[in-house]
Amino acid sequence: MSDKFAMRSHTCGELREENKGEKVTLMGWVGRQRDHGGIIFIDLRDRYGMTQIVFNPSADAVYATGKSLRGEFVVAVTGVVEKRPDNMVNDNLTTGQIEVVAETVEILNVAKTPPFEIDDNVEVSEEIRLKYRYLDMRRSQMQHNLIMRHKMAQLTRRYFDRNGFIEIETPMLMRSTPEGARDYLVPSRVHHGRFYALPQSPQTYKQLLMVSGFDRYFQIVKCFRDEDLRADRQPEFTQVDVELSFVTQEEVLNLVEPLMAEYMDQLLGNNLELPIQRMTFAEAMEKYGTDKPDLRFGMQLVELSDLVENCDFKVFTDCIQNKGAVKGICFAGGAKYSRKQQDVLTAFARQGGARGLVIIKIAGTDWQGNLTKFFNSATRQNIIERMQAKDGDLLLIVADQRQVTNEALGDLRLRIAGEEGLQKDDCYAFLWVTDFPLLEYDDEEGRFVARHHPFTSPKDEDLQWLNSDPGRVRAKAYDLVLNGTEIAGGSIRIFKKDMQQEMFKLLNISDEEANNKFGFLMEAFEYGAPPHGGIAFGFDRMAMLFAGRKSIRDVIAFPKTSSAISLMDGAPSAVDSKQLQELGVKLATE
Ligand code: AMO
Repeated sequence: MSDKFAMRSHTCGELREENKGEKVTLMGWVGRQRDHGGIIFIDLRDRYGMTQIVFNPSADAVYATGKSLRGEFVVAVTGVVEKRPDNMVNDNLTTGQIEVVAETVEILNVAKTPPFEIDDNVEVSEEIRLKYRYLDMRRSQMQHNLIMRHKMAQLTRRYFDRNGFIEIETPMLMRSTPEGARDYLVPSRVHHGRFYALPQSPQTYKQLLMVSGFDRYFQIVKCFRDEDLRADRQPEFTQVDVELSFVTQEEVLNLVEPLMAEYMDQLLGNNLELPIQRMTFAEAMEKYGTDKPDLRFGMQLVELSDLVENCDFKVFTDCIQNKGAVKGICFAGGAKYSRKQQDVLTAFARQGGARGLVIIKIAGTDWQGNLTKFFNSATRQNIIERMQAKDGDLLLIVADQRQVTNEALGDLRLRIAGEEGLQKDDCYAFLWVTDFPLLEYDDEEGRFVARHHPFTSPKDEDLQWLNSDPGRVRAKAYDLVLNGTEIAGGSIRIFKKDMQQEMFKLLNISDEEANNKFGFLMEAFEYGAPPHGGIAFGFDRMAMLFAGRKSIRDVIAFPKTSSAISLMDGAPSAVDSKQLQELGVKLATE
């Protein structure tokens, strides 16, 4: 490492006891300074680590400069490596055995007092961190995250290269072909009134690459979506985009699984056993109330409808008569929740759309509370048995339309897991979710919309329902879920023009509209499109989970806030009227 630098002899993370007596030159930023009765110590920091520099009062000139150093000054220090006295060894620091006794020091640049101390242990509001992102990224946590991200990218490239994939770049300025989210638009200066769109993903391009014969394509690529942001969403984010020809769903999943094992092994030293577990969408909804189950803990949803069909509790019997579902989760040890905490759970379930939440406390081997009387002893025992409930547990039961019941319980399950600390950061539970519905009904638009995207192929055995019962048709679509976060999604595509046209018809997209939006793809399909399919991984999301962070912003160098603003450079900003004029754009507010 050292011989790579012309001006420094070593980095600030490199020196060890073996270097004792060597004369070295280090460069970096001044961290903490301490004045110990005349002797001055400073921590000199760079991205490799921290080295303690000592300024002795006996060395007049260098001591005076040492004393004048302030936090975040950039300095070059030359001195001799000494072993620290035994009582000053710091085992938490890789260079903690040694210190460098300064002989000369040069101030390469001064610095204003930073708005926060560059120290992982100092709490700083995210707003300030983002405004001064370049300082935030001097902190070792951010450096760790970004270095890990770099390793992920290198590993990804090596993996796909090794497996015969070709990395091909696709345009950032493309035709607007809505894929689900809103497009970011770029006005054309040369063609007034026309716009490029930034890609929501390279979906159409990668399918065209298959038509070109690049049977194994990948790309680490920026995508842009103008959608409401959350902790795991950014308006611009990175995908590992993959497409293959002549493949089945099985092959796609099998081909990318070892990449997950490599991430686990090389980034975290964890062993991921393959194959990754699989679950159909229907099973995920029934057991976990979500299409992205967090499998780090149990608390599955349990069907109770058949057990309460004939009870005296009208809420349940009415629900079943109306073809709803009565289901519950068992909150182990939940009886410790106060009345007030229970009310909060009920309010939470209501907020999520459920009509209510029935909470039953288990005391000894029976139910406790005023609902007990509506259920005979056999029913109570059957429910206890099916939910595997024990003394001190709480049963949380929802009776509503099946989807509402599932989703409300799914949300409760996650909330309780959060409160009880069941979602361990160092546990990695991967899961494939398969057999998604092809379509979903959009009440607002009064039509079916593609659940994944309109190029996703229906399952062959469900084609029979395409016209008679479209909601029933499942897709050759799959998601990869890690710890309850969707980290990838993909599908086997429609590759024949007539099937694609039929799909557009189902989605109520007219020939004209389809032609206008996707005509180029349809035309390409007439020139020998091979069967193909693929997947795209959310690179930032994976990095976030591997780094054990809660926000995607922590693994992106210059992220946007949840209102899509860059606090550092102030984007988006107003532009001058000349620029607008050139683009032929007039603001509605003017
Ligand atoms: P999809 O829309 O499922 O599929 O996206 C793939 C993965 O990208 C990640 N992701 C995001 N990450 C951060 N911020 C966002 N706003 C954001 N949106 C999505 C998720 C998601 O699983 N073209 C298809 C893939 C295909 O069919 O091959 C696509 O883009 O982790």
